[in-house]
Amino acid sequence: MAERLWEVPPTAGLPMSWRDFLPRGGSLELGLAAYLHQPEVQIECSGTAALVVALTTLKQLSPRRSVVIPAYTCPLVALAVAYCGLTPVLCDTRPDHFDLCPDSLAAVCNADTLAVLITHLGGRVAELEVTAGIVRGRGAYVIEDAAQSLGATWQGRPVGGFGDIGFYSLGVGKGLTIFGGGVLVAGQDELRRQLRATSAGIAPFSTRWELRRMLELAGYLGLYRPSGMGLAFGMSLRRRLKKGQLIEAVGDDCSANIPLHRVGAWRKAIGARALQRLPDFLEQTARQAEARKIRLAAIPGVTLMRDAPGGTGTWPFFMMLMPSQAARDHVLASLWQAGLGVGRLFIHALPDYPYLSALFQTAEVPNARDFAARMFIITNSPWLRNQDFERICSVLEEVVVPDSVESKYNLPA
Ligand SMILES: Cc1ncc(COP(=O)(O)O)c(C=O)c1O
Repeated sequence: MAERLWEVPPTAGLPMSWRDFLPRGGSLELGLAAYLHQPEVQIECSGTAALVVALTTLKQLSPRRSVVIPAYTCPLVALAVAYCGLTPVLCDTRPDHFDLCPDSLAAVCNADTLAVLITHLGGRVAELEVTAGIVRGRGAYVIEDAAQSLGATWQGRPVGGFGDIGFYSLGVGKGLTIFGGGVLVAGQDELRRQLRATSAGIAPFSTRWELRRMLELAGYLGLYRPSGMGLAFGMSLRRRLKKGQLIEAVGDDCSANIPLHRVGAWRKAIGARALQRLPDFLEQTARQAEARKIRLAAIPGVTLMRDAPGGTGTWPFFMMLMPSQAARDHVLASLWQAGLGVGRLFIHALPDYPYLSALFQTAEVPNARDFAARMFIITNSPWLRNQDFERICSVLEEVVVPDSVESKYNLPA
């Protein structure tokens, strides 16, 4: 029974300590402001809530009403845009990538574009220079979605600080978590004042939500370890996979009903204590990633996603691109249910979620679809033992050995 419950988390999240829950934890705002090189930061109840606050604010500053988002990203992003009464417009990704395609971006940005989201996905640093140049040339705001990339830098400065507004998630499964949380930053004083005013107007304190999140955080303290992950995560994953419920299996079954509430002082203080351990933890996972990146890169036919030039990302997991969907599915058939932190990020390109399709005018996003079909992730949790990482690499090698599977999976010889 113990062996069946043993499970590696799908991402390298910072484990909590019971000491984090002691009183007098310090200020999360001040700690994060120093860490992110910002004059101040604003804490919201989720990354999605941070985006809602950002968009609600920008909507008051401009008559423009559409928001360009990458066609491969978290479904909550599209729901947040719609929640604000704005129109989400899809930008296709570059071939073999999650990043915005410059040609597609130039084509979809117009005089109605209020903002464009540049997304640093899975710790990987997105291209910022060309992309932000196109956005600013159209008079739109740049929002950096660093939900999955707290701690990543570009040209030595934290990502999230290059756009007009940036946000990070402190949700469960992220590096630093308070179970549900978001961090909002903006370079300009006046914009920061407006963001604070918006938040005060739309996110009241809720005892019910705060109690719920505190209980969930205590559960995370108890179960975020290999002996608890089977119970907290693996059992429900396997149940859903057996039923073919892929969207539910990865938590992509998002609700349009976005909670907006304050984060309580105790939970912030817990986050402030945990934050003190984050830089060392990110360094530890980056060191582990160094060796494993070399091993993964040596496997022919598979592509490891890397940072844009100038970027130094974090390594919660490795994003891998296989030569074909069949090859990717072969890997997942062997490993998704094995409890080794192999799985998928977002199941579909955004227009392919049944509950989102009505939001978009076009579903013409071939590159994002292709990326969704061929990508999978391998955890970079420190709990993934070398022998288990090797087992994963062997499966990849098996899939890309031309003799055995070339004809079956249409792999290049
Ligand atoms: C790229 C991206 N943007 C936004 C969000 C929303 O963040 P949250 O889950 O904290 O609401 C997520 C969540 O995982 C995400 O991955």
